[in-house]
Amino acid sequence: MSKAKEVKKLAGRAAVENHVRNNQVLGIGSGSTIVPAVQRIAERVKQENLNLVCIPTSFQARQLILQYGLILSDLDRHAEMDLAIDGADEVDADLSLIKGGGDCLTQEKIVAGYASRFIVIADFRKDSKNLGDQWHKGIPIEVIPMACVPVRRAVT
Ligand code: 5RP
Repeated sequence: MSKAKEVKKLAGRAAVENHVRNNQVLGIGSGSTIVPAVQRIAERVKQENLNLVCIPTSFQARQLILQYGLILSDLDRHAEMDLAIDGADEVDADLSLIKGGGDCLTQEKIVAGYASRFIVIADFRKDSKNLGDQWHKGIPIEVIPMACVPVRRAVT
């Protein structure tokens, strides 16, 4: 296993150990780091007979939830979550984040916004003093089509 995969796995599993409890509604983030977290959630559901409901933040997250046999729901049925768990592209000393490098920013923000707690899984490679130290691809912005012009103006 590559170093990157190994640290993602350790971080993802630790987040699940420390924060997931029985009878929770969980928001499930997107990206590669969330994969070992979902794997660990599925293991714990089997081992501990946990009752968990999962709300995806993307098509990928939806597929993961289904692939691992977890209970899939949505914001219509569960408009509030106990916890949203997601990855990040970079985290600074104040815990500000760059997110959305995997193109799921809008859905991730919506889901996180309805969760009581937001748990970010980020391994040491994403730990920066200042945002932009490690992540050089720019700040992701996801814009719905009708807001394109005003958002472009605001950003400019
Ligand atoms: C997707 C995201 C991801 O959480 C972020 O890009 C981190 O991805 P990875 O876990 O693959 O490093 O914000 O929009």
